[in-house]
Amino acid sequence: MIKIAIIGGTGVYDPNILLNVRSEEISTPYGSVQYNVGEYAGKEVAFLPRHGNKHSIPPHLINYRANIWAMKKLGVENIIATTAVGSLNIEMKPGHFVLVDQFLDFTKGRASTFYEGGERGVVHVDLTKPYCEKLRETVHTAAKALTIPIHTKGVYVCTEGPRFETPAEINMFAQFGGDLVGMTNVPEAVLAREAEMCYSTVSMVTNYAAGISPQPLTHGEVLETMAANGDNIKKLIMKSIELIEVGSATCSCSKALAEYGGFKL
Ligand code: HPA
Repeated sequence: MIKIAIIGGTGVYDPNILLNVRSEEISTPYGSVQYNVGEYAGKEVAFLPRHGNKHSIPPHLINYRANIWAMKKLGVENIIATTAVGSLNIEMKPGHFVLVDQFLDFTKGRASTFYEGGERGVVHVDLTKPYCEKLRETVHTAAKALTIPIHTKGVYVCTEGPRFETPAEINMFAQFGGDLVGMTNVPEAVLAREAEMCYSTVSMVTNYAAGISPQPLTHGEVLETMAANGDNIKKLIMKSIELIEVGSATCSCSKALAEYGGFKL
């Protein structure tokens, strides 16, 4: 069974960090999902590029529910997601990695729950710790082993996109305590928690956010920084896969909906 999935963000499209890669498709109530499966460190790992293979799906149109449902249906218990982010925090420089530990949600009208009343009912999932502490620790251990510097905390502000932000918005987010800005971590992290999966995000700072950066932002700049640090992100993911102890989670993610009788596919 596939217990680990990598959801690759901007700049992370290549499934060939894994061996013996094959392409598969799985159906969900929200539509079908194409993904790759391969092996690393004796483990079967699913790889799902969030924006499609050629960055063809914009952040606000990603079928987040289908993606998370598909991974759950495969038997995945641990998801490591990557995200490209702009930085509001002068200490978090382009090229740096951040293991975010909180988010602020500024998305607008995205489908962000599996529970919309009716037969499935209504669920209010706890997000006191929105990312799996155990998995964050695993990625941190991997970074230390590789001597890749990584910030171990950070507040991710999720915007609707696909446009970049105005400097006034960035100024407001900074006053609200945001460190990083991106367009995809919500509702992905929320849905993973509803599905009782361990989920952690590795954010890669690709630029200073609008107004902090003296130049206008370009998607090219984001891709360039991702490419320049692509090796490190690959190494970090591979080491993390190696260190994940499948089936021995000591966190409470797999019991997130215990109050509601557990998550059901
Ligand atoms: N804003 C939003 N999303 C991003 C940015 C940004 O500056 N950089 C990379 N993803």
